[in-house]
Amino acid sequence: MALVNTKKMFEQAAKNGYAIGAFNVNNMEIVQGITEACKEENAPVILQVSKGARAYANHTYLVKLVEAAVAECPEIPIALHLDHGPDFETCKACIDGGFTSVMIDGSHLSFEENVALTKKVVEYAHAHNPYVTVEGELGTLAGIEDDVKVESGHESYTRPEEVIEFVERTGVDSLAIAIGTSHGAYKFTPEQCTRNADGVLVPPPLRFDILKAVAEKLGDFPIVLHGSSSVPQEYVKMVNEFGGKMPNAIGVPEEQLREAAKLSVCKINIDSDLRLAMTGTIRKFYAEHPDKFDPREYLKPARANIKEIVRHKLINVLGCAGKADECK
Ligand code: G3H
Ligand code: 13P
Ligand code: ZN
Repeated sequence: MALVNTKKMFEQAAKNGYAIGAFNVNNMEIVQGITEACKEENAPVILQVSKGARAYANHTYLVKLVEAAVAECPEIPIALHLDHGPDFETCKACIDGGFTSVMIDGSHLSFEENVALTKKVVEYAHAHNPYVTVEGELGTLAGIEDDVKVESGHESYTRPEEVIEFVERTGVDSLAIAIGTSHGAYKFTPEQCTRNADGVLVPPPLRFDILKAVAEKLGDFPIVLHGSSSVPQEYVKMVNEFGGKMPNAIGVPEEQLREAAKLSVCKINIDSDLRLAMTGTIRKFYAEHPDKFDPREYLKPARANIKEIVRHKLINVLGCAGKADECK
């Protein structure tokens, strides 16, 4: 099947208590690792591209890589989505250039400015044939997205009392909210965490009260969670063991994301976990094979580990394994 927008995926995810994985792609190996796992697990998927990814790999290369994945995986629905669209022009370029879904990120603007910008993108995207879906955002996450850096402590949770007005005035198809997740591999400091009986650091829980209050206002309307990597300690250890330095990298516990997926969260964004798997694997490979210099030799195990981490997310976190057919 051809690339799809996110409408049907989100309808099914909301109705059946799972979420669609939205994974960031920057090169061929990442696209292959993700889509091979989704094909084998019969899962719908969103491949998303940031402003930074477009600058790194070039718009056309990324679209063609995703089109290749669609040709290789005709049995699963795949959406191509712009992640953190910074302005109308970038969204327009992606809508005109083959994307089936875009995010316009006006979360750093005032409410009125965010509404105006988001509405402008929605009007353009929905008039496109075929219809392009649009994700908006209310509330800000800590961390770094392209060139916007929000210091920890300066993030702001979504205000449930604003969501109905935002959705109605903009016409967005989904809404990203801030409930305590953040971008990158350092989501919580050890001071913010408690230790469990095994001595493992446990981060503070996400603000499920806000998620539930938003769902009470919006019903089944699709909610999106950014910054949802869990920062697997197995890969943090691998990075640190083989020359890296990532002390105190801590992510969102997977059980909490599973809970969120059962509620109104229909899209869960994961990028850092794939980066960690790739980097850890490559560091290990070179430490163990200092004589090798063929990029294929290190990219092959890196791609294989991306595939396995995505498979794990589909089955154990998102709950969307086996759901491809109902999302078509
Ligand atoms: O939220 C941002 C994503 O992880 C993409 O990161 O802007 O470095 O491509 P990037
Ligand atoms: P992570 O950094 O937690 O993987 O979040 C990715 C993201 O939100 C992309 O938009
Ligand atoms: Zn994000």
